[in-house]
Amino acid sequence: MTLQDKFKELEIEGKALLATNFYNYETLTGVLKAAQSTGFPIILQTSPSTIDYLGIDVAAALARSALKKHNVEGWLHLDHAHSYSLIKECLDAGYDSVMIDASEKSFSENVDITSQITELAKKYGANVEAELGYVAKLGQVQEKESGFTDPDDAKKFVDLTGVDALAVAIGSAHGFYKAEPNLDLDRLAKIDEATSAALVLHGGSGIPEKQIQKSIQLGIRKINLATEIKNKFMNTLQKDLKDNDEIDLRKVFPSAIEQVNKLVQAKLHMINQPKS
Ligand code: 13P
Ligand code: ZN
Ligand code: NA
Repeated sequence: MTLQDKFKELEIEGKALLATNFYNYETLTGVLKAAQSTGFPIILQTSPSTIDYLGIDVAAALARSALKKHNVEGWLHLDHAHSYSLIKECLDAGYDSVMIDASEKSFSENVDITSQITELAKKYGANVEAELGYVAKLGQVQEKESGFTDPDDAKKFVDLTGVDALAVAIGSAHGFYKAEPNLDLDRLAKIDEATSAALVLHGGSGIPEKQIQKSIQLGIRKINLATEIKNKFMNTLQKDLKDNDEIDLRKVFPSAIEQVNKLVQAKLHMINQPKS
């Protein structure tokens, strides 16, 4: 099933997919063990910096073969891409979905750049996600409401570009939060009413369970999770290696993989909890 069709199914069911960033074989394996044991489908995503690290073909082949190995239904997505050329290379390498992030440009530039990508992606039958409004990057503070997505603009943007999925700025931010976030759920409801696109919540790390579940009820269909995975993996490794001179790396990684597995299992259960 294409991701676009999956989003249509999720819209009817009122559900969402977890989209996890992976960085290497080990984080990918932790994520897929969780998807396999819980039976939930998943989106695997790589940022441009992970592609710099792994290479596009290795990233795509790793994801594909690992999905098969773990017998998991999943899609491979390019997260926060800024360039047409990287997006085209990923589509050529078999990515199911791409994000064009022109959120820091003006509305009309964002429309133009995003429209070029939807035009291109049509040839591949791929899903396209764009961002309107501005979700703070790692280490930045969200400028209160000034960068939030406007519902009327969202409608115009989706109509003009034909995107399948839209990342919304409603108070979430990348990385951990200094204070508990307070998502603008009224705004989310209005955006959902105004547009037909699958709505995407970036900055999933650190958002309290209640707000995640409420956001799914109000139209979020994809929740991105990165920082918590990276941190869990590295914190476990750092602890394990503190007083340990093991040099067989195959004996070092499994406990960090296991911690990622546990984390992602908990997130999958949280996201797929039946409505109360
Ligand atoms: P976090 O790092 O806050 O989980 O955000 C992930 C994200 O939005 C990836 O695009
Ligand atoms: Zn993001
Ligand atoms: Na976050």
